[in-house]
Amino acid sequence: MQKINKRLLGQTAIVTGANSGIGEAIAYSLGREGANVIINYISHPEKAEEIAHNISNEDCCGTAIAIKCDVSKEDQVINMFKRAIDHFGTVDICVPNAGLQRDASLHEMKLEDWQLVLDVNLTGQFLCAREAIREFLRRGMRPEVSSSLGKIIHTSSVHQIIPWAGHANYAATKGGIVMLMESICQEYAPYKIRCNSIAPGAIKTPINKEAWDTQEAIDKLNKLIPYKRIGIPEDVGSTAAWLASDESEYINGTTIFVDGGMTCYPGFTENG
Ligand code: BGC
Repeated sequence: MQKINKRLLGQTAIVTGANSGIGEAIAYSLGREGANVIINYISHPEKAEEIAHNISNEDCCGTAIAIKCDVSKEDQVINMFKRAIDHFGTVDICVPNAGLQRDASLHEMKLEDWQLVLDVNLTGQFLCAREAIREFLRRGMRPEVSSSLGKIIHTSSVHQIIPWAGHANYAATKGGIVMLMESICQEYAPYKIRCNSIAPGAIKTPINKEAWDTQEAIDKLNKLIPYKRIGIPEDVGSTAAWLASDESEYINGTTIFVDGGMTCYPGFTENG
């Protein structure tokens, strides 16, 4: 259970892909720190509304609203930020999290599956980060709520460094996010904008159901996880809450792996 510190009181966060899995957990975590939250979604509006309702009605939380937006579409992203700013006054925290997989062997991968994954996972993160930076620069410092002008937290993946056969489109986007995030840091840190990534390993969400829905699958997966348990969305949510808060103020341009050690290549424990 997340400790309630109210570290984000008076701030507003946009979380994309916030109506399921990791995005949902991040939305709850930020809300429980006192932030107002935009629950971005593309399908299942009822789930987004339910999360917004829950956050708004928990005593400790900020207020949340659901906004539909395809993050790969420039006009929709611009409009989402406009609605968020109209409603809450500004945006302080942006979590470009929406992502999807369209898996196939490379020689069988359709261009449309390559393109869709790039559009959502990479272009979507660019568009959201860009709008967030525009708003941070327009609004100026708010020292009463944060020592930073604004915070961007990209959702990446262990596959930003672990190659992934059969998922080249997905891995390519996550590799791209590293350079996007680090370049943003280099360019905007002087303005006191912080830009970091969280790189989750195997987290129990709908995206990887076949990796955890039988005991056999879990046993196979655990071979890849030194800590010997699958992650839960809250593992990522609590990291995001800390990364958005001033407690991590001097952390910038960094990827935090939330993966139970997956990136330590457990296959080499008794091999190599
Ligand atoms: C993918 C999951 C996968 C995990 C570890 C994530 O980025 O979305 O499907 O289980 O990486 O391989």
